[in-house]
Amino acid sequence: MNHTNSYAPFGEDYGPGLMGPFAPIFDESVWEDLEVIGKIPEDINGVYLRNGPNTRFAPKGRYHPFDGDGMLHSAHFENGRVVYRNRWVRTDGWELEDEAGQAVLYGIRETLKGRDDKPLKDTSNTDVIGHGGVALASWYMSGEAYQIDPVTLETLGKAPYAKGLGNGFSAHPKVDEQTEELMYFDYWNEPPYMSYGVVAADGTVLKQVPIDLPGPRLPHDMAITEHYSILHDLPLLHDEEALRHGRHKLEFHPEMPTRLGVIPRYGDSLSIKWFEFTPCFIYHTINAWEEGDEVVMVGCRYMPALDEHGEIDAVRTARDIAQLVMRARLWRWRMNLKTGESHEEPLNEELNVEFPSINARRTGRKTRWAYLVDHHPQILRWTGIRKFDTDTGECVAAFSDGAEDCWYSEPWFAEADAAVNEDDGYVVVFCWNERTEQQQLQVFDARDINSGPVARIIIPRMIPSGFHACWMSSRRLKK
Ligand SMILES: [Fe+2]
Repeated sequence: MNHTNSYAPFGEDYGPGLMGPFAPIFDESVWEDLEVIGKIPEDINGVYLRNGPNTRFAPKGRYHPFDGDGMLHSAHFENGRVVYRNRWVRTDGWELEDEAGQAVLYGIRETLKGRDDKPLKDTSNTDVIGHGGVALASWYMSGEAYQIDPVTLETLGKAPYAKGLGNGFSAHPKVDEQTEELMYFDYWNEPPYMSYGVVAADGTVLKQVPIDLPGPRLPHDMAITEHYSILHDLPLLHDEEALRHGRHKLEFHPEMPTRLGVIPRYGDSLSIKWFEFTPCFIYHTINAWEEGDEVVMVGCRYMPALDEHGEIDAVRTARDIAQLVMRARLWRWRMNLKTGESHEEPLNEELNVEFPSINARRTGRKTRWAYLVDHHPQILRWTGIRKFDTDTGECVAAFSDGAEDCWYSEPWFAEADAAVNEDDGYVVVFCWNERTEQQQLQVFDARDINSGPVARIIIPRMIPSGFHACWMSSRRLKK
């Protein structure tokens, strides 16, 4: 199969977003007995799942990566063996277009929710997380959440509980693996603009409350600690005039602060405490936890573009965010719940790193190690993986098969069966090498990433570049 950079199954009119490593594939496959270079460890047991856009039909109108039909790719590890699978998420939009045999719905560059003449497709293509034994696929624009069998990748249906007060469910909910509770947020363009909820492992909605924001916002992620959730009110807004016409245009407001809202896990809008920080956008948090009276959040701060005077260039910042141009630095935010004081500091000012993962069993508890990708400065491309000490900000390990050649997926930490220390386990990642035209699934020892993969599993065709991934250990898979 030819997947060179000129490969364009729908022609070149849609631009580079549907070409080469971004071009979709059209098979749904199950592959066992794959060629392995090295050895798959026997104490990695569970599923690595990765979501991403995989447009099935030539799009109607202009294309954005958030428009492509969600497709999951998985690597199911069991006792030293692995099975690869890929399957589309059967969203309502996918089913509708399947019946029509062509694209029927539109993407976010053409329209927003509420336009009858150009109905928007909810693609469920952004995030995936394990909850209550199944995988949950979700969309950046706050859409439906679909439950997926994490082993077969069969779509089980919409998660009935996964609906905020705006009737949606944003990508990046968080699961506390100690209680299996899921914390989520929803955002939309009418007051109160955001809601927050808690769902038990069995799908019971434990809490669902409105969060009053000053206006429509575009948050992307959240974080949790053992007792709190952290909601984002960032100075990235819709252009209101464009919004009235159902169009999607971003504005960055450097005169507004970044606000992080700390809400008790089962709290409401009256119990939320807001903390102000320097203006920025935040795509992805790494983790958060409690330290005495403080709530600490570490994440990737999107660094606003600066003009020649060192001032924030609001127009360029908004445009860069919209075009997925990444400029992120490891950052720490501290919020004192007793005094109301806040503090923020860069952890590493050198490296443009994003798409973080941690030992997910410790989500909401103090963690030290994070695994991120080297982000290409111009396009949605990840050229290597790194391990960071988030106490010091030091990059302690890095690996790439060649930054010029490689397209890595979001790596996830997979805890070893008998783990004692936080980083006892592996890092799992897909890597497409455009020079050798070979797709690999790579497994690293998380304690020794510099030495390269302990196993390279050869996948017989390219896995298109995508978005988020997760790790579900075998003990969390529904029996
Ligand atoms: Fe994201």
